[in-house]
Amino acid sequence: MNKAERRAKIDARVKQGLLGRWYAICKSTEVRKDRPYGGKLLGRKVVLWRDEDGKIQCIEDYCPHRGAALSLGEVHDGNIGCRYHGLVLDGTGTILRVPAMPECAFEGRKVNEAYAVQEANDAVYVYIPSKERPEPPKLQLPEEFTSKDWTGFLCTAAWQANYQLALDNLADPMHGCYLHASSFTLAFGAKQDLLKLDNHDNGFHVSRVGQVGENFDWVEMVVEEGGLYCRLDIPYPPAAGPGGHMRIIGFVTPIDDDSCKVFFWRMRMVTGTAREAWRFMYRAALEPRHWHVLEQDRIMLEEMTDAAGRRDMLYQHDLGVSRIRQLVLNAASEQVDFEIAAELEAAE
Ligand code: FES
Ligand SMILES: [Fe+2]
Repeated sequence: MNKAERRAKIDARVKQGLLGRWYAICKSTEVRKDRPYGGKLLGRKVVLWRDEDGKIQCIEDYCPHRGAALSLGEVHDGNIGCRYHGLVLDGTGTILRVPAMPECAFEGRKVNEAYAVQEANDAVYVYIPSKERPEPPKLQLPEEFTSKDWTGFLCTAAWQANYQLALDNLADPMHGCYLHASSFTLAFGAKQDLLKLDNHDNGFHVSRVGQVGENFDWVEMVVEEGGLYCRLDIPYPPAAGPGGHMRIIGFVTPIDDDSCKVFFWRMRMVTGTAREAWRFMYRAALEPRHWHVLEQDRIMLEEMTDAAGRRDMLYQHDLGVSRIRQLVLNAASEQVDFEIAAELEAAE
């Protein structure tokens, strides 16, 4: 493989999303025992359902008979049945029955790819294997998910923008005081500043130099072996009741080259009656305001051109943006080089 071919492969991997990672795909409540859920990530269509024990199964959303979407089918005794001619597969991707054709030779064959699944904090995660890491590493989750002091709500949305734009947006604290200037929570702070970046063993922290606690003033990107997420704080005005700032824990999942799904946990460190007060107020009054802010991000990203960022004129405030791009590019290069080496070895 020549240099240009290698580079094209790496660019395609960056655009599609890294393999060998856990990705959030949907809310836990969306996957049920009585009907399948169809989703898409990194260009692959998958179907999820719960078996008799309530455990989530996930295989390619593809019927091996003639290619119907299994997500249009039914769950029978913990297995998935195709709506078109009734073929039944289990959670390992093995054909159990071909009811229209007695003693069909296809029964017992494992034909569909099956994916590892994990549920955590109201979300479902799917592992997309890579050549170098076919088996899933531990799913690393933020400590807020298991802490008794934090409480929160998961919100998800599909955006018609490549996932890289959503990552760039999260790594860019300077947009808060501009894009969200008319919002309930992000209307404050200076409109000029410098940014600084600190690298950590697992990711980096980018923050405004001139202010803390006034706006979306810092973000931490956590890059673990099997995934990537971010945390940031949004100051909460006194009108939002007792408790400190609101913390956002964000995950981004590539759907395909032109769309992604964002998973944001809106969390607060509040206990006792203050917790109940905030949870009530969130549902009763605050949630639409938070959605309004997120819509501003969605519209901005969906209307953006040049998703690859090749014509960007980055300046000092884009330290986080260039760092996250670099991390993804490095990981994609490693992945592609491993694949090239494995192919060469196989050919020898
Ligand atoms: S396409 Fe699924 S059973 Fe025919
Ligand atoms: Fe934003």
